[in-house]
Amino acid sequence: RKRVRTRHFQNAKENGIAITGLTSYDMLSARIFDEAGIDFLLVGDSAGNNVLGYDTTVPVTVDELIPLARGVAGAVSRAFVVGDMPFGSYENSAEEALHTAVRFMKEAQVHAVKLEGGVRSADKIRRIVDAGIPVMGHVGFTPQSEHGLGGHIIQGRGDAEAALIADALAVEAAGAFSVVLEMVPAAAAQKVTEALRIPTIGVGAGPHVDGQLLVWTDFAGFTTGRVPKFVKQYADLRGVLTDAVTRFRGDVAERRYPGPEHSYE
Ligand code: KIV
Ligand code: NA
Repeated sequence: RKRVRTRHFQNAKENGIAITGLTSYDMLSARIFDEAGIDFLLVGDSAGNNVLGYDTTVPVTVDELIPLARGVAGAVSRAFVVGDMPFGSYENSAEEALHTAVRFMKEAQVHAVKLEGGVRSADKIRRIVDAGIPVMGHVGFTPQSEHGLGGHIIQGRGDAEAALIADALAVEAAGAFSVVLEMVPAAAAQKVTEALRIPTIGVGAGPHVDGQLLVWTDFAGFTTGRVPKFVKQYADLRGVLTDAVTRFRGDVAERRYPGPEHSYE
């Protein structure tokens, strides 16, 4: 099983092969996804919501995300691992962006980094790519700017479509090897996909993109509370684990566990 490289993404687009991605924040899930043949794993700052217990991705720091990224990168043998640059770790300058990207490469040993923003982030993407680090862009709905955008709002609708395309083109021109399109109308995502040479990875962007990405705790039915419309739930891990823990508690309470088969002579 040959490691996935950036050229795999390009070949996939050119040959019409769909790219698959999931988020991962730990070694156990990363190993399962890698063995199942998922092409890339994103150590997303959605760890803020799914690991660290924040309401948004805004408070997540580089120091918090790097140990999680190390666990994921160390677990895979094939999948391409992307470290998500947190809010506040790249906006200030291209130098700051490169500094953060280098930390992810050296301390977490990921294979690429991702950062949010199109035109506004192009100079940061360029600087990181010029240092030999692959960059995945991210346009459309960008959770780190949730408060600036006024909430979880679909981007690129109507008149905003032209700006979405311009953002994606800026990411490509800056040297990114792929770009995430989050929560945009399917028709707009299709236009972006046709306009770009690099592959588009959709998350809530409809079917006319080059690949699909989901937050793993959403797709596996682990997440509590509201899950976005675009998520298809492939499992009910919350139900499975609730059942298991309830039976464990009952067995201990009723002294059915441990039995002789679980005890040492
Ligand atoms: O952090 C994350 O999970 C993401 C994806 C949803 C694009 O950035
Ligand atoms: Na993210």
